[in-house]
Amino acid sequence: MSKLRAAIKGVGAFVPEKVLTNADLEKMVDTSDEWITSRTGIKERHICPPDKPTSYMAAKAVEDLMQKSGLTPDDIDVLICATVTPDTVFPDTANTILHTINAKNGFGFDINAACSGFLYALTVGSKFIETGTYNNVVVVGADKMSSIIDYTDRATCIIFGDGAGAVLLGSTTSGNGVIDSILRGDGAGREFLHMKAGGSAKPANHETVDNKEHFVYQDGKPVFKAAVNGMISTVNEVLERNGLSTKDLDWLVPHQANMRIISSVGDTLDIPKEKIMINIHKYGNTTAGTLPLCLNDYEKQLKKGDKVVLTAFGGGFTWGSVYLIWDY
Ligand code: UT7
Repeated sequence: MSKLRAAIKGVGAFVPEKVLTNADLEKMVDTSDEWITSRTGIKERHICPPDKPTSYMAAKAVEDLMQKSGLTPDDIDVLICATVTPDTVFPDTANTILHTINAKNGFGFDINAACSGFLYALTVGSKFIETGTYNNVVVVGADKMSSIIDYTDRATCIIFGDGAGAVLLGSTTSGNGVIDSILRGDGAGREFLHMKAGGSAKPANHETVDNKEHFVYQDGKPVFKAAVNGMISTVNEVLERNGLSTKDLDWLVPHQANMRIISSVGDTLDIPKEKIMINIHKYGNTTAGTLPLCLNDYEKQLKKGDKVVLTAFGGGFTWGSVYLIWDY
């Protein structure tokens, strides 16, 4: 019997019905389907109704997870929600999700690590399981990016979309499950990707609204470069630490920020495209939602014993890689 580890026992997801295509964006800003497709690989993204918050999508993803896995709301011990678009500054979104799904026996909290949020939350959630004190931990990645995007800024509005994914963590002694995690952060990167106002550093006022300081600001080029380097280095590091090479991997699950970033990471690591989960064309960059949305889309192709590395990079900067062995 191997040591007690956390394993993913189920996956659920939700994306809103409304689709924003590249053709739609051509009518909104000075861009083209050709530019967006060739520079990012994105064809369309889903947009949440203005009156529905992030917790709405997250609760739907958790309900999908519960329906597929047989989990009931009262089985949930801990719910961790990774998001940069919480419903409100406080209370946290995880609490609202638990209330929405009528879960009464657990507690929850949010993690803000931008596009790496799901990796951070997955790692933290795994530790709860490894203590042996908690049986069912739900890890959600959810973002309503449309609520913080300036749809007159062609540099950002073409990239992001809305969506949510959730996984259930339970315990296993099979030798499978979450094996290792390497997470990194460097606050020096915050100048390249951030929201200027709305926090304690610059509270909202008329001027911040007039200056459009409540939207995502991104200087794309340095972020692109750091994303490629950060993902490659932590994938290599987590594999080496576990005596593996990229040839041993069955799946790479990369954050879906830009198809060119994904290709560059895959090519450098010499991982064939068939082993890389890709759905950026359908959803764009859903920030904390990309990794669980990938797991959900590829769930039927995953087999027990598959060696999987998830990797992400995002605002902060934050980045990292998690190595796990699929357990169902
Ligand atoms: O998920 C969190 C982490 N985020 C990322 O990983 C994102 C990383 N960055 C990127 O994915 C890319 O940098 C972008 C997709 C954001 C931008 O692509 P790029 O190849 O770096 O383009 P650029 O910003 O250097 O712009 C190249 C040209 C510029 O025109 P000039 O100055 O060469 O005349 C831009 O004005 O493309 C122009 N441009 C556009 N043209 C048509 C920028 N956005 C658009 C647009 N449509 N939407």
